[in-house]
Amino acid sequence: MTQTKKMMRALAGETLDTPPIWMMRQAGRYLPEYMATRAQAGDFLSLCYNSDLATEVTLQPIRRYGFDAAILFADILLLPQALGADLWFVTGEGPRLSTIQSQADFDKLKDVSEIHETLNPIYDTVSKLSRELPSETTLIGFAGAPWTVATYMIAGRGTPDQGPAHKLKDENPALFDQVIDLITAGTIEYLSKQIEAGAETVKLFDSWAGSLKGADFDKYALEPAKKIIAALKARHPDTPIIAFPRGAGERYVGFAKATGADCVALDDGVTPEWAADNIQVDGCVQGNLKSSHMVTGGQDLVNETRRIVDALGKGPHIFNLGHGITPDADPENVQLMIDTVRGK
Ligand code: CP3
Repeated sequence: MTQTKKMMRALAGETLDTPPIWMMRQAGRYLPEYMATRAQAGDFLSLCYNSDLATEVTLQPIRRYGFDAAILFADILLLPQALGADLWFVTGEGPRLSTIQSQADFDKLKDVSEIHETLNPIYDTVSKLSRELPSETTLIGFAGAPWTVATYMIAGRGTPDQGPAHKLKDENPALFDQVIDLITAGTIEYLSKQIEAGAETVKLFDSWAGSLKGADFDKYALEPAKKIIAALKARHPDTPIIAFPRGAGERYVGFAKATGADCVALDDGVTPEWAADNIQVDGCVQGNLKSSHMVTGGQDLVNETRRIVDALGKGPHIFNLGHGITPDADPENVQLMIDTVRGK
């Protein structure tokens, strides 16, 4: 089928006059309507598992801004929860989970076949969204990449240097590999179900890929992504896949080819000019405006947005931030970015 949606055309490798645009964390705390719906749900996790309200918050930034894509409202830590980890969020601090320190901790986790029991409401959200989104808007599903998810499952929380995961990897590689393999298998089933429910593309978030060096990067960022993408392509050959090895730096080079990803999402640690010469030569790229411009706005925002659009405009490009928008962002700056990208 020839694609008419801008986001899908860019993912297929087409160079467009103006790039499609969406934003990581576009449904989030910088929007008053998000805060209202989250309050109605009670808390963040209840919001994720309430399909009606999760659909509502996914649609809010589409109504307000007319983004070219909507990303399913959920979290990368729902898969660990579905695998049997305890999960809760401490307001103002972030996620907390049960930890994995021994084989016994790992053995308590569930089989991959059991995850859907917990994740069914997420698939319901995807189905609802695929019915309710405007016809020009692409629906994105997502999951965390195995290394990033493992860093939370092992440490039981976010860590500045992913120390506990590195330690387990170095001291008990046999156990660490079991963790990675379980998440890899779970991610394949989770993303397959999202695609079956109506996700038109899926994105694999490897937020901590940058802390893997040398052979570790190949083994724990590249290889799991390659496995997941191969399995998804075997089942859903027409669904494009976006990989986000955040912080990969030089290792962005060749990542799409090596993993089979249709698009790589760039963080703001690489310049758009370098990315055009070294990454976009292999296909579609997404990114990569610094999120802080959504707080500071002004002429700097306009100049940097134009710079990215110019540098990446000669090939397939999806405009996005380099990481998620933060709660202190000004919603008017988001409009300014969109108007600048669309040349208004
Ligand atoms: O992009 C989107 O809008 C889709 C929804 C989405 C969320 N989290 C909602 C969310 C997506 C794609 C994620 C991915 C995610 N979650 C990642 C990878 C991307 C990244 O940001 O690097 C990670 C590492 C997580 C785990 C997670 N979830 C953390 C560390 C936190 C706390 C930090 C924070 O921003 O508060 C969350 C909470 C979270 N996930 C919120 C949202 C909207 C904020 C929750 C709230 O409303 O209080």
